[in-house]
Amino acid sequence: MFRILACRMIVPNMHILTVEAPAVAREVQPGQFIIIRAEEEGERIPLSVSDWDRERGTVTTIFMSIGRTTHRLARLRSGEYLPTVVGPLGNASEIEHFGTVLLLGGCYGIGSLYPIARALKEKGNRVFVVIEARSSYLFYWEDRYRMLVDGVHHITRDGSKGIKGHIGRVPEILASLGEPVDRVIINGCTFCLKRGSDATRALGITTIVDLNPIMIDGTGMCGVCRVTVGGETKFACVQGPEFDGHEVDWEELSQRRKTYMAEEVIPLRTSKCEEHMHGEEHERKEKHGQAAAPGEPPGRERKQPQHTGEVS
Ligand code: FES
Repeated sequence: MFRILACRMIVPNMHILTVEAPAVAREVQPGQFIIIRAEEEGERIPLSVSDWDRERGTVTTIFMSIGRTTHRLARLRSGEYLPTVVGPLGNASEIEHFGTVLLLGGCYGIGSLYPIARALKEKGNRVFVVIEARSSYLFYWEDRYRMLVDGVHHITRDGSKGIKGHIGRVPEILASLGEPVDRVIINGCTFCLKRGSDATRALGITTIVDLNPIMIDGTGMCGVCRVTVGGETKFACVQGPEFDGHEVDWEELSQRRKTYMAEEVIPLRTSKCEEHMHGEEHERKEKHGQAAAPGEPPGRERKQPQHTGEVS
């Protein structure tokens, strides 16, 4: 059993989980992930590692509450236990002296890029970070990044901070840096990975994405995580999770991620969890002075894909 040291919401619908897992903390590297279960007999879900403390033996991950398992996970509190924490899994990010690197992150990806940024800085790279969200109140860890990297930029869909729009506007940020960028690394939902890769393709910049297919074992045994990259089938858990974003079959990945939508999301909408979701949304709107629109569904961000094995 793995003791939870912290589990709380850091921005609406996004949660930080710190758990004691000394064997994982001892070995984990930037870009790797863990598989957890929130309860005995529960679903196994992969979560990117966002930080760790080797001395304390702890691992931290950021996750979005989007389906039944992550919703259950979000309700756990410090002092409770997870029955399963397996890892570190997947290959570590390639960390070299590339020159100038732009990191692009949305939702949970803002967190999972952090150890990559740290490692790239240790290698002497110039590192810029672009964080993307629906609105500015969904950003987190900005102070951490400001203390670490050479510049932090923002894209918001409502224009409340930085450039208004979505991640497809990243070429404007690249142009504004005043120096050539040697590599782009993107973490976040499938939409974010695809749009970011589309935006850099014409610029010819090597673009690495952290893929987020459904996973079960995470060790290359089940084949559930297969993706097509460069026309070849790859198992994301053991051959990834990072791949060339310009080579990924995005249509196939999006379709496969929807496989269990009915099992994951529909039960949430018909259970007591619905009340909780309404409560969170109401609390968010009150805090930000927004009136609840009649009939507006709770937590639109729940409909976005996230890097768990859960549905998009
Ligand atoms: Fe089973 Fe990758 S998760 S092979």
